[in-house]
Amino acid sequence: MSVKREQVLIEALPYLREFYDSIMVIKIGGSIMSDREVLDTFVQDLVLLRYVGIHPVVVHGGGPEISEKMARFGKKSVFVGGLRVTDEETLEIARMVLLGNINSSLVSLIGKHGGKGIGLSGKDGQLIVARKKAPIVVAGEEAPIDLGWVGEVVRVNPEIIMITAGKGYIPVISPIAVDGEGNNLNVNADTAAGVIAIALGAKKLISVTDVEGVKLRPEDPNTVISSFRISDFRRMVDEKVITGGMIPKVEACVRAVEGGVQSAHIVDGRRPHALLLELFTDTGVGTMIERG
Ligand SMILES: Nc1ncnc2c1ncn2[C@@H]1O[C@H](COP(=O)(O)OP(=O)(O)OP(=O)(O)O)[C@@H](O)[C@H]1O
Ligand SMILES: [Mg+2]
Repeated sequence: MSVKREQVLIEALPYLREFYDSIMVIKIGGSIMSDREVLDTFVQDLVLLRYVGIHPVVVHGGGPEISEKMARFGKKSVFVGGLRVTDEETLEIARMVLLGNINSSLVSLIGKHGGKGIGLSGKDGQLIVARKKAPIVVAGEEAPIDLGWVGEVVRVNPEIIMITAGKGYIPVISPIAVDGEGNNLNVNADTAAGVIAIALGAKKLISVTDVEGVKLRPEDPNTVISSFRISDFRRMVDEKVITGGMIPKVEACVRAVEGGVQSAHIVDGRRPHALLLELFTDTGVGTMIERG
């Protein structure tokens, strides 16, 4: 038994050496936040990363909780191309859920496990500057669809992340951006994580979600693709293999890798300590996106 433990630690050594002092952008899906225990082990992993000399930068989503709050206000959630159509009220609910609830809970949990969390949004120090996304053309629809207050990222100013992470804090970022007029914009959390990873020159982008990885047949967990090339992405969206929230997720991974991030991963956050398994063991989990 004890030999096994030693082996586990020694297997991690090359990874600990490689990742020391590097930035890892970790996106946590709103999809796995309802399970308290899962969230607790996820935050433990983050704190562990920090204590072995890695700089984790967290970006979080909030999809299911936003949908649930909207339903309580009698509003229906509408998604186009995996993006939430965001009218004035939806934006207000998204801000409440993301900033008021999820961000502050994550920061508290980091503190509980002995780390220093700091809550940020895209508004702090103009971290994420965006503009309203143009209406998008959807097959079968006559006119382009206006997504409302959905943001398209224009610029990332990562200074506030460098300052806080450099002092040992774990930044926790809500994907609410600002435009030049001071309006708030709703940005998909994976999209935000991807551009932040590029701006920081992160080593990896890891998207922690509620599926085993990108699957060839979504209903069959045995069809997870362990790695695929950037050139496969468009074809998989056209063939409707990749749909819904997986579209902006994979797109963010692809852009990040094209933008210089070494690798991007989609991992199953329902599996306890998925982050540690991905980073520190020889058998990675989930789907990896490579250049090529
Ligand atoms: N080919 C595919 N393989 C796996 N999952 C897919 C695929 N196509 C679509 N999906 C869907 O993508 C979902 C994950 O994206 P989703 O946006 O719902 O979650 P999230 O990004 O983790 O959470 P949030 O958006 O709240 O941050 C899966 O639950 C699955 O239903
Ligand atoms: Mg999503």
